[in-house]
Amino acid sequence: MRFFSRLFLASLVFVSLLWCSHLLCSRSPQSQGDISVEAEDLPVTFDTLLHIQQLRKKTLRSFCGQTAKMTELPCNEQKASQVVSSILVNNKLQLLYCKVPATGVEGWEHQLETLEEKENITLQLPVPIHQHFGTPRMLSQYNLTSMETLLKSYTKVIFIREPFQRLISAYMHGLAGSLTFKEFVQHILHRGSSNASIEWKPLVSLCQPCLVHYDYIIMFGFLSSEVPHLMQRAGLLGDHQLPKFIDFKIHWTYDWLEEQMFSTLSRAQKKHLCHFFRFDFAAFHFPNSLLWDPTCLAGST
Ligand SMILES: *[C@@H]1O[C@H](CO)[C@@H](O)[C@H](O)[C@H]1NC(C)=O
Ligand SMILES: *[C@@H]1O[C@H](CO)[C@@H](O)[C@H](O)[C@H]1NC(C)=O
Ligand SMILES: *[C@@H]1O[C@H](CO)[C@@H](O)[C@H](O)[C@H]1NC(C)=O
Repeated sequence: MRFFSRLFLASLVFVSLLWCSHLLCSRSPQSQGDISVEAEDLPVTFDTLLHIQQLRKKTLRSFCGQTAKMTELPCNEQKASQVVSSILVNNKLQLLYCKVPATGVEGWEHQLETLEEKENITLQLPVPIHQHFGTPRMLSQYNLTSMETLLKSYTKVIFIREPFQRLISAYMHGLAGSLTFKEFVQHILHRGSSNASIEWKPLVSLCQPCLVHYDYIIMFGFLSSEVPHLMQRAGLLGDHQLPKFIDFKIHWTYDWLEEQMFSTLSRAQKKHLCHFFRFDFAAFHFPNSLLWDPTCLAGST
């Protein structure tokens, strides 16, 4: 009985999320908690956002200094391709970004496409690059020399999201088939992180943040304040016709859902999940995560 009422509530939330799927339905500006901005307010909060970026990068650098994560591209082209397999290239805008589902990156890609379709976009690229690299969209399709050049010269962006929310999102999007959430988690833990699907594979494995020195670390839940800033810095001036993000609302809905789903897990599962995502916790800090428990970082180099 309790299961069915939970299922019902979950479906209700699911439907409401579908209602505004793809994070992109046009809405009026939202209130955003403590960093509340709209595109027009950018200059005011520019420093705040820069400051946040500095803090995130500092956390990341400290993680990379302490762990044995890969910091250089392997000399073997095939291995190098595997390592950067989640990284996409936008040559026109001189961007590299790590593409992980349900982190907001798809919405951003959509914004970029909308902009590129406009004939008259204003590009103010920091350093014009005259070299021609070809057109592949995946970094893994370039040769080693080009990979290295692109990694050095392009602006690099990563979208991050709290691990448990990524799991719930994968579950809600039907990736678990007919499994209950608890069974789904068991399945993930059993398969381990090397066999993990991209939807829940730790960000550190997918995006290689110690190798790719990301210039921007954009966090789900704050997209509508962080992305316009990013666009401006990337030389794409703010445009009011761009689709807006509603991730803050989704984030809020998830708070409730997370607690429900978290409560179905056993103590051991919670602990193992924290261990599963330990590198993401160390690299990006998600202090409000239900999974977060400092003890799961012990001995995790
Ligand atoms: C771009 O804008 C300029 C002036 O704003 C105009 O003269 C030009 O024709 C536009 N180009 C295209 C391709 O629309
Ligand atoms: C790598 O690709 C670039 C661009 O396509 C090309 O100019 C360069 O000669 C290639 N380098 C090697 C070593 O194949
Ligand atoms: C992981 O993947 C490999 C190759 O696809 C497979 O042989 C192995 O059984 C998988 N391990 C688990 C635990 O699913």
